Amino acid sequence: MARLKGRDFICLKDFDRQEIWQFLEVAAQAKRDLYRGVTHRPLEGKSLGMIFTKPSTRTRVAFEVAIFQLGGHGIFLSASELQLGRGETIEDTARVLSRYLDAVMIRTFDHTEVVRLAEAASVPVINGLTDFVHPCQALADLMTIWEKKGRLQGVRLAYVGDGNNVAHSLLLGGTKMGMHIVVASPEGYQPDPEVLELARRQAEESGGSVHLTSDPREAVRGADVVYTDVWVSMGQEAEKQQRLRRFGEFQVNADLMRLAREDAIFMHCLPAHRGEEVTDEVMDGKWSAVFDQAENRLHTHKAILMLLL
Ligand code: CP
Ligand code: NVA
Repeated sequence: MARLKGRDFICLKDFDRQEIWQFLEVAAQAKRDLYRGVTHRPLEGKSLGMIFTKPSTRTRVAFEVAIFQLGGHGIFLSASELQLGRGETIEDTARVLSRYLDAVMIRTFDHTEVVRLAEAASVPVINGLTDFVHPCQALADLMTIWEKKGRLQGVRLAYVGDGNNVAHSLLLGGTKMGMHIVVASPEGYQPDPEVLELARRQAEESGGSVHLTSDPREAVRGADVVYTDVWVSMGQEAEKQQRLRRFGEFQVNADLMRLAREDAIFMHCLPAHRGEEVTDEVMDGKWSAVFDQAENRLHTHKAILMLLL
């Protein structure tokens, strides 16, 4: 545990397999404790600041409840209402917040802002989503897959749609844990080549694999997990019409799900745009693990806070 104290949580590539298991095991214990009504207050007196420059339902509420249930206090900081919005630098903001807070979570556009914040802060910085990665989401996703499939090693995950921040974190987290990941995206919307390269190297070490295709049917055949995300991420609103046209063939519907394994599950980080990347039939059908997945944000956020703070 000591190895994680004081660390930042910026990208899953920064953690080894054993450390990721540690997060997952602590999260599973936190879930059992909550279900049994056992309370621990290991973060009594500690404060978490949460900076948001984009909207959020799950990340905000799950972090706020997580720190509260662990005995600490969460402070929501809207970036537009901080002096950051009036030109105070990220570095000065980091130095000041480090004098008050025990950790800072930030959701923003540009990944380098999170890196700069972490470099200047003397307390742990947690990445609550950037345009590049969404590591808190991927940790909850790994927990959900582990719960539903009983293992991570060798699990086949088909990611269908935009090669975005969520896809990047699944690639980086999944290949650390020995998963086989197939990404089906339209030409021009594939994951970042550097992420793919790193995921491939990690897969070589872990016994997993990475494949790319532009055919969602090929990706889903034989999959244990089918995963998708919105076609228009936060900040891409101007490209909406073009993206809706381009991604039309990449909808996860019941016909596509039937090509996966009989016991396959469907996952989505949420929010979902029903009728676009996924149909109601899949979201609400027998395959869907999406609300268990959303719940696991709470338990994994507790693990992140308990292990880093
Ligand atoms: N999945 C996720 O991060 O949801 P929010 O945008 O609601 O936080
Ligand atoms: N890819 C989505 C994820 C939202 C949780 C976005 O960045 O908007």
